[in-house]
Amino acid sequence: MKNKINFLDLGTQPLANNYLAKNKSKKRENKYKLIVCFDKVTKLVSIKNTFSSEKMFNNTYPYRSSMSKTMINSFKKLSKIIKNKYKPKKILEIGSNDGAFIKNFKKNLTIGIEPCSNVERITKKLKYNTYSKYWSVNTAKKILTDHNKVDLVYSANTISHIKNLNQVFEAINIVLNEKGIFILEDPSLLECLKNNTYDQFYNEHIYVFSTLGLMNILKKHNLEIFKVERLEIHGGSNRYYIKKNTNSIKLENSFKLAIKEEIKYGLNKISTYKKFANRVKKSKSELITILKKLKRKNEKIIGYGATAKATTILNYCKINNKTIDYFLDTTKEKQNKLMPGSKIPILKYKGNLDSKVKYIFLGAWNFKKEIFLKEKKYIKNGGKFITHTPTPKII
Ligand code: TYD
Repeated sequence: MKNKINFLDLGTQPLANNYLAKNKSKKRENKYKLIVCFDKVTKLVSIKNTFSSEKMFNNTYPYRSSMSKTMINSFKKLSKIIKNKYKPKKILEIGSNDGAFIKNFKKNLTIGIEPCSNVERITKKLKYNTYSKYWSVNTAKKILTDHNKVDLVYSANTISHIKNLNQVFEAINIVLNEKGIFILEDPSLLECLKNNTYDQFYNEHIYVFSTLGLMNILKKHNLEIFKVERLEIHGGSNRYYIKKNTNSIKLENSFKLAIKEEIKYGLNKISTYKKFANRVKKSKSELITILKKLKRKNEKIIGYGATAKATTILNYCKINNKTIDYFLDTTKEKQNKLMPGSKIPILKYKGNLDSKVKYIFLGAWNFKKEIFLKEKKYIKNGGKFITHTPTPKII
């Protein structure tokens, strides 16, 4: 613990993704202090106070990977590459959610691990081979017994949700063939700092990875990153290609460049994170100023995309339903509920935006391109979006 330095305090927060039923609006929510810290030794950035996986990922989990075309297309594209380049006989996905990735493969080719049974049920019904389990050494042993080793492990936006990284990678070593490949995809810390997207931090995102930090922890398990691909997904993600360390491993330029760029930006130094924390404070006051100005003019503001990320912003900036009337979202499990903490109602997205709405706070800013395309009529008619990244503004 003494290697960890706190650098950012995002205040008291409710659990993101813990959307409240309307009749439970008076119920006291579970809250925690959202503090972000930097480990001087490993260079990993993580949140200080964490909850058990069982508390966050259970049979009421509302997140669906298939809710965005961007994600579906990204998984499709990667699946083609995997089939053509690596030709695996068996693929394991950690955090298979509603099957957005594994659905691109034949049923007998994949194994999915998804602890949230309400979501895992979706792929099981489709006859995919999925387990409602947390990723752990025990789960890896179970997979080994049931299926033998796999040639490829894929995990998108999941490993950063698991506190005990040592156990995660130990388990990978159990199931992965000696020559197998582990592809790990998660939001990039460098992009988070560059774009001031402090809302990447919330209870589920225990880590926001840099290549540097990930490399250090993987090394302890004899695993090595040999290639890094930059993706636009979730406001800038990295797709890390990892192998078991052997003498013959060839590190590609993309990996060397990623490390070089991260060091140049200062991801190995606490001063960089302290500067980021100052920018976050400024971002908060600028966003509040924009919203207050609009409210003074009696403008109606709504939200688009009831994201977990938005929970961090709303509660950090103390924005409630006096400012944002409601959020729209396409996810059935979130509709007719309330945003955690701020208690802003979430309504079903029906396609037609209320003509009285002139300002929309972009909760799902990471799908800006997709949303702007979908809402081109609203934009053409003069409708505006409010975003906090890279700096708060009306666009
Ligand atoms: P996402 O940003 O993926 O995740 P998180 O909750 O982890 O921050 O969530 C996107 C949310 O936005 C999800 O609830 C679906 C919703 N959404 C829409 O309502 N309409 C859209 O067009 C898109 C792309 C997303």
